[in-house]
Amino acid sequence: MRAHVNAASPFARKVRIVARETGLISRVQEIDTAVSPVAPNAGLAAANPLVKIPALVLDDGTTLYDSRVICEYLDALAGQRLFPQSGMARWQALRLQALCDGILDAAVLIRYETAVRPQAVRWQDWIAAQRGKIDGGLAALEQAQSGFGASFGIGQVGAACVLGYLDFRFPDIDWRARCPQLKAWFAEASTRASVRDTAPRA
Ligand code: BEZ
Repeated sequence: MRAHVNAASPFARKVRIVARETGLISRVQEIDTAVSPVAPNAGLAAANPLVKIPALVLDDGTTLYDSRVICEYLDALAGQRLFPQSGMARWQALRLQALCDGILDAAVLIRYETAVRPQAVRWQDWIAAQRGKIDGGLAALEQAQSGFGASFGIGQVGAACVLGYLDFRFPDIDWRARCPQLKAWFAEASTRASVRDTAPRA
């Protein structure tokens, strides 16, 4: 399998962590793929018509996207360790994943707005609204942390990607001051090989 990823992308990081947590990393070739919201990568378009990472190309040529689909595919292939299969546990894990993806959506949109869009046409109210989603999402994630227990499933993968991405691109957001439970949890989670080996890089 070939995975189009990027060392800075938090959505690609979800896939990279899951590949390691499931023990499938030896079967996944990670292809460092440059992405830009304004200059689509033609090679990536063959794997994902939305021209987004992550995208997974299976050995028979089938392509899978987005991070949610790829993570669950890898987990199913490995024997279902990270996604609860049924009941409320499943809905809660999927909701936690959705919460984390939503925080990441807002953070990546701000990143593009502030790092890519020309300064003269930046929209401060829109940035502030996205920042509100990050703040609200972090408050919900802090509450959810009390239910994490010792498990490291898809929701916790998402949480690690959120907190790592905020540290990487938004060091001004002092989430540790507001989220003491997440602070302690992330310190511990960051010692996992899957998290440590996928720390975001420019
Ligand atoms: C980033 O550089 O922050 C980034 C790169 C790829 C996807 C999303 C974000």
